[in-house]
Amino acid sequence: MDSASAATLNGACAPKRANGAAESRAALLRGGGGFGIIYGAMDIVILLGAPGSGKGTVAGKLAADNANLSHVSSGDLLREAIAKGTAAGLEAKGYMEKGELVPDALIAAMIKDVVSATTGDKTMLLDGFPRNLAQAEILAQMGVSVRAAVLIDVPDDIILGRILGRRTCPNCKAGYHVTNLPPKVEGICDKCGTRLTIRKDDNPDTVQDRLAVYHRQTEPLIEYYGAKGILRKVDGNADIEVVAKAFMEQL
Ligand code: AP5
Repeated sequence: MDSASAATLNGACAPKRANGAAESRAALLRGGGGFGIIYGAMDIVILLGAPGSGKGTVAGKLAADNANLSHVSSGDLLREAIAKGTAAGLEAKGYMEKGELVPDALIAAMIKDVVSATTGDKTMLLDGFPRNLAQAEILAQMGVSVRAAVLIDVPDDIILGRILGRRTCPNCKAGYHVTNLPPKVEGICDKCGTRLTIRKDDNPDTVQDRLAVYHRQTEPLIEYYGAKGILRKVDGNADIEVVAKAFMEQL
């Protein structure tokens, strides 16, 4: 995907890209915008989908395979903050363990930091943010260019098996599944050799709560981005390679 094809994509929200870090930074400094700063015309694709729908798997794979894509996961940022014991991490922990959303201001500040620290010309695959209408408005005020919001659509009855079988590398963040995407050596990350872990919120009770939160708070974003003409949908109930290819075709 080059800048020219990106610009013609889906018509409505074609990004106006800066040519590299220096120009991005210059655009940033020209400033303005509702968040007190405008982050140039950073090109963003939002991943929408229920917990366990495959957002992290697809975004991680596409970013690994395409030099012009990066992957930012709100969940990973929060888990990293918890691991480091930051104030934000300590505040977020209880919400995450219950499967509730953390406060909007907390996660928005983290996303804002990442966006403002990002230079260059990559398209950011934004996984897990926004998660409700208030966060979508905050993102809009950051002055970024949201090119598309791609929904990975998976029925609820598939979700539980996906989440309970998930294993994650705490070091490099690679994701696995005990049957759908097993590591070469059971329990060990293929990429960095670290012992895989089970996320604290990946248990049957919390999954039901996370699904309920998704339906109540995140699903309205489907209509929100639909009304803006930038909603795309892929069938997430297929092989990972098939889903990733279908997703890429939407970019
Ligand atoms: P977060 O980490 O974002 O979790 P989530 O949205 O619940 O999504 P998951 O990471 O569970 O699923 P995924 O769609 O990435 O699936 P994956 O690719 O891993 O958020 C965690 C918590 O942080 C939230 O509950 C909340 O508390 C807080 N939070 C985060 N963002 C927030 C925000 N913006 N505002 C407020 N709070 C926020 O796949 C799952 C499994 O399925 C894997 O094992 C994978 O190998 C397997 N799999 C994937 N695709 C396929 C496929 N096509 N076929 C078969 N198996 C597959």
